[in-house]
Amino acid sequence: MSESSDIQMEHQQYIQPLGDWVRTHSCCELTAANVGDEVLLMGWAQFRRDHGGLIFIDMRDREGLTQVVFSPEENEEAHKTAHILRTEYVLAIKGRVRLRPEGMANSNLHTGEIEVVVSDWKLLNTCRTTPFGIEDRVEATENLRLKYRYLDLRRPRLAKNFIIRHKAMQSVRRYLDELNFLDIETPILTKSTPEGARDFLVPSRVNQGQFYALPQSPQLFKQLLMVAGMERYYQIVRCFRDEDLRADRQPEFTQIDCEMSFVDHEQVMAMGEGMARRMFKDVLDVDLPEAFPRMTYAEAMDKYGVDKPDTRFELLLTDVTDVVKGSEFRLFATAELVKAMTVKGGATMSRKEIDDHTEFVKIYGAKGLAWIKVKEDDWQSPIAKFLSDDERKGLTEALGLEPGDIVFFQAGPADMVNAALGNLRLRIGEQMGLIDEKAINALWVTDFPLLEWDDESKRYVALHHPFTAPHPDDIELLKTDPGKVRSNAYDMVINGHEVGGGSIRIHSSEVQASMFEALGIGEEEAQEKFGFLLEALEYGAPPHGGIAFGLDRLIMILTGAKSIREVIAFPKTQRGTCLMTEAPSTVATAQLRELGIKLREKPSN
Ligand code: AMO
Ligand code: AMP
Repeated sequence: MSESSDIQMEHQQYIQPLGDWVRTHSCCELTAANVGDEVLLMGWAQFRRDHGGLIFIDMRDREGLTQVVFSPEENEEAHKTAHILRTEYVLAIKGRVRLRPEGMANSNLHTGEIEVVVSDWKLLNTCRTTPFGIEDRVEATENLRLKYRYLDLRRPRLAKNFIIRHKAMQSVRRYLDELNFLDIETPILTKSTPEGARDFLVPSRVNQGQFYALPQSPQLFKQLLMVAGMERYYQIVRCFRDEDLRADRQPEFTQIDCEMSFVDHEQVMAMGEGMARRMFKDVLDVDLPEAFPRMTYAEAMDKYGVDKPDTRFELLLTDVTDVVKGSEFRLFATAELVKAMTVKGGATMSRKEIDDHTEFVKIYGAKGLAWIKVKEDDWQSPIAKFLSDDERKGLTEALGLEPGDIVFFQAGPADMVNAALGNLRLRIGEQMGLIDEKAINALWVTDFPLLEWDDESKRYVALHHPFTAPHPDDIELLKTDPGKVRSNAYDMVINGHEVGGGSIRIHSSEVQASMFEALGIGEEEAQEKFGFLLEALEYGAPPHGGIAFGLDRLIMILTGAKSIREVIAFPKTQRGTCLMTEAPSTVATAQLRELGIKLREKPSN
């Protein structure tokens, strides 16, 4: 046992019960207005300093810090016993609020003007040496922080995120309650909901060989609640998706899920804007605009290369396919799409930086990255020699090129070109500090394609989900040219994150059946998977639509967190594991037998 645990063990004899001690204030409350008050605080000893015969403790609770002082003049016994206090010991103190001496105030702290001089105190518990310091400035690896998440959560920076999360949820609930939404719970043990990810399955013991799926969203149930006449539903609800994880994706996450009857997309969008406005006002005191700007999917892809544009900075993409279609550079002449992105003043970029960008775009399937540095007298570029005078003139005009610029080109299939340049745009925007970190840019992306061709399965798949209604002007196209049909769907995007998505739904069983047909889902399969929905649509389903917001992503934006893991109390790692509980884990053979499950192979670890 380490020396520190020996001391801790020895100190356990001093632990006292709470008795009749009742806390009067939090550690973030007392100011000069309280001078002279008798108070009782409880919390953790964050930091101890012994100074001039006095012992100073920074006492911390969820809300903040207060400096407490043990002085032999105030209570000799209390001062003597205070010597046992170590970092993160739990204590309660009774004392009197006084002003800090002249020049000792700390303006960074809400309680920085005062201190509490201790008249009596109790040790409530000891603490082992923590694997990392509880102060914000202490660095620790994320894995260690996740293993000891309960200690990580003590740190003020992280604790603050959960206070904000709570406030945001309360704000949403108040808003939706005012609009007459009912909070209704839907099942967690259910059947597959197609939202584009894999399902998490739960085996049934009483129905062996059969499985529940955890909901990817409550989509089907909320539509059934509209058929049930509930008119306005919401739920702050956990959703489960077995998909590749990223900085803003977790396998279980929380949606603010809404559905409304007798509305068109304008009303759903107005409701969503109102909700976001209220949330940003209540939590950050930021005013979002009355009506968010709108951008079509086509425009987003054209200018930003992604369907969730970060509009906080320019650096737009330009389609130059026509300018270079006669080029000697075969790659440009033959590509489906050639796009360029001009970085103003970027010609100072080093070869190494350009090579790094070239490696980066390979993630998106690019084979390389062509570039031109515009110099006073000439172009410096690996492809300059292929470009005719006309092409140079065409590019200069199309891109507004000036000496000092660098242009990046991507040529190839449209999906790849957009993904590669769209993501390079974000990377360069961040690296060059082009992003206004304080801005909150919210917008709607509309007019998504209803269907997307999937090369692998050689059929159309729903871009949103198969219950989304086609754009009213495009219904005829569904039979003749399905790829051209737009949907009646909308995504809310803030600072380049898709924070919400929804649509008007199909409320006619006939249209729903033709949608399944367009998706290549046969009648039998449709009946087996969604028979209950198709049937319900035949029983007087009202026109309806809705939206779901990613609560975790909204909180990321509200708190400025860089990772979704910073706003979820007990998140999973990128590999979907919980380092604290060590889930997922193997289970006993007996338990598997009960479920009628036999593993094909023994897992290797
Ligand atoms: P969608 O699939 O767009 O729509 O999800 C809605 C919002 O949920 C958030 N989100 C996620 N957040 C964290 N981790 C994830 N793995 C994750 N997946 C999605 C996003 C997204 O905008 N039933 C429809 C909604 C509807 O049509 O009403 C749905 O689930 O912010
Ligand atoms: P190469 O002819 O392969 O030497 O490529 C000439 C230049 O084009 C190099 O700078 C490559 O990085 C770049 N390049 C390769 N593939 C692409 C592409 N798909 N789009 C744009 N530039 C590319």
